[in-house]
Amino acid sequence: MSIQILGTGSYVPEKIVTNDDLSKMVETSDEWITQRVGVRERHVSVHESAAEMGAIAAQRALEAAGITADQLGLIVGATVSADYGCPSLSAAIQNAIGASCPAFDVNSACSGFMFALDTAAAFIARGGIRYALVLGAERLSRILDWTDRSTCVIFGDGAGAAVVAPGESYLASHLFTSGNDSVLSIPLGKGNSPFYEKDVEPLAVHMSGQETFKFAVKQIVGDIKLICEQAGISPEQIDYIVPHQANIRIIDLAARRLGVPMEKFIVNIEKIGNTSSASVPISFDGLVRSGKLKKGDLIVLCAFGGGLSSGACLLRW
Ligand code: UT7
Repeated sequence: MSIQILGTGSYVPEKIVTNDDLSKMVETSDEWITQRVGVRERHVSVHESAAEMGAIAAQRALEAAGITADQLGLIVGATVSADYGCPSLSAAIQNAIGASCPAFDVNSACSGFMFALDTAAAFIARGGIRYALVLGAERLSRILDWTDRSTCVIFGDGAGAAVVAPGESYLASHLFTSGNDSVLSIPLGKGNSPFYEKDVEPLAVHMSGQETFKFAVKQIVGDIKLICEQAGISPEQIDYIVPHQANIRIIDLAARRLGVPMEKFIVNIEKIGNTSSASVPISFDGLVRSGKLKKGDLIVLCAFGGGLSSGACLLRW
């Protein structure tokens, strides 16, 4: 048994931080960020927690799906910037929306939503779950080093969610992990132990940009080819690709290598930036709400990031 998407929702904080705002904080410029990354502005939380953003996105997805929180049988959330180590982000969202089903998080960094969706699909295939909520919610602004111009200009905050149910829309999927903390990592700092003697980097996003860039392009292209092969279609047959919004140049290169025109890629990086695990569901919600989708359209969701990890799936609308 496969799944279908019943409804999507998203939320980004009210506060917008522009490239010019950041130019006053670190040595950078609107020109550099726009040309090298593609971000012009990002939303940054002033008062919304990761769980509060996730709960609003979840509520919007439930409304779009036409169901209520008490009908949910499962919540699987993805995040690298949860408000608490415990309870999980998903547990906090369960409480906020008034659901009573099992709720837990997966952590696969920016690929997290792909891992969460596949997990929900597996639970639904097992049987016994009628509706599942899958989401990504991030308050990355909490864990960025705001003096590091190579990372703080890239990311933004936000949340995206989807309600899924048994169906026949999930045609293929692929997940990839290659454990490696030297390219992209978020160390959580030294902690409180008076006994621990090892040196630990402080809490922040650490990223080797160019290594990540090369990995990203290779994975998008390889993962999409693989799921197309699984489904017996060619990449030209895809109607829309919803990629992780990490860098417009990554998307552009992947489009050229796949031979798929840029118009088929959903791009919102200019206004949203990179919201890690929330990136794909926010962009997907934008596509769903744009009214462009027609019954039968073939849609790819794909992401890559820390782990290193990547994931992609093919959906029939
Ligand atoms: O979501 C997780 C996955 N993440 C990604 O996929 C990110 C992938 N990587 C990237 O998007 C790009 O590698 C970055 C946007 C992170 C960096 O762009 P780049 O073109 O690879 O730049 P670079 O790191 O090679 O740096 C080029 C120059 C350096 O100066 P020098 O050494 O040439 O003098 C940097 O210090 O640009 C400098 N630089 C900046 N200049 C102005 C780095 N950040 C900035 C900045 N403003 N914000």
